[in-house]
Amino acid sequence: MAHGQFPYIRGRRLRTTKALRAMVAEHNLKPADFIAPVFVMEGKNEKVEIPSMPDYYRYTLDLLLDEVDELQQAGIQSVLVFAKVPDEKKDNKGTEALNPEGLMQRAVGSIKEQFPEMLVMTDIAMDPYSSYGHDGIVEDGEILNDASVEVLSKVAVSHAEAGADMVAPSDMMDGRIGAMREALDEAEFTHTGIMAYSAKYASSYYGPFRDALDSAPGFGDKKTYQMDPANVQEAIKEAKLDEQEGADIVMVKPGLPYMDVIRAVKENVSVPVSVYNVSGEYAMLKAAAEKGWLDEEEVMLETLIGFKRAGADLIATYFAKQASKLLNRK
Ligand code: PBG
Repeated sequence: MAHGQFPYIRGRRLRTTKALRAMVAEHNLKPADFIAPVFVMEGKNEKVEIPSMPDYYRYTLDLLLDEVDELQQAGIQSVLVFAKVPDEKKDNKGTEALNPEGLMQRAVGSIKEQFPEMLVMTDIAMDPYSSYGHDGIVEDGEILNDASVEVLSKVAVSHAEAGADMVAPSDMMDGRIGAMREALDEAEFTHTGIMAYSAKYASSYYGPFRDALDSAPGFGDKKTYQMDPANVQEAIKEAKLDEQEGADIVMVKPGLPYMDVIRAVKENVSVPVSVYNVSGEYAMLKAAAEKGWLDEEEVMLETLIGFKRAGADLIATYFAKQASKLLNRK
């Protein structure tokens, strides 16, 4: 459409001013979109920076509570707790994962006591507790499915007893969501939610996280339970299955290389979809920013809005605090 040589329709008209751009923005980011992962370790009054995750720390529980306070003040409504387990407490049965006085259970209890409004989620998998660094029980070099599901369901109940609002199984065993729902209901935790890591890929982007928890697999890899990066149809299958088994939220993980998977899952389930912007994605941006090659804040926000555009309702990200503070200023 044109009169003379000029177009009637000019896309640039709506981009002219900041006000116009804000008015027609199709997506937006807010602190309540974020789930902040937090790492806790034994000890007192100590925080340790994770070498491959600049500006990100593992905290002793006392200092973690200060951090949660800061997160809450920044407007973040939910944390996802990970505990670093000392080597001597690791075995092949998840014994420490079930300890009512374990670090995870104590951390959840203290956070809920001090910040009752903060939604506390816990990661459920055996790797931080496993002498093999695998997500389930190992026998003859194999990761057992059904035996692992039994233990993991008990872990879910233990976290609920400690006060967790929602459990987040990240183990990728078959049938775990249904089993956990049943176990939680039987223990009368009918309101404890499940956020399923439904489409969790066997990704090399988890490296820095495994540094943070000292949880790298001692032998082999996780390809017999985590998904093949080549597949998207299978992600839909897994997400639908988890929805049927009772998942309240389904998750896609990692984020950036799997934007199409977020979209596909979003279009095939009716529960909220979250994405995990994982440790390796955080490390990539931090490293490039440190070198002065990328503008950290701008690229961070562009990445996060990309997840919303792809179809994510929630974003678990190590940028939660930084992004929230920035958004509060804008
Ligand atoms: C545990 C778990 C992992 C992550 C979250 N939960 C590691 C793994 O599966 O090896 C990765 C998180 C990240 O890289 O940020 N099963």
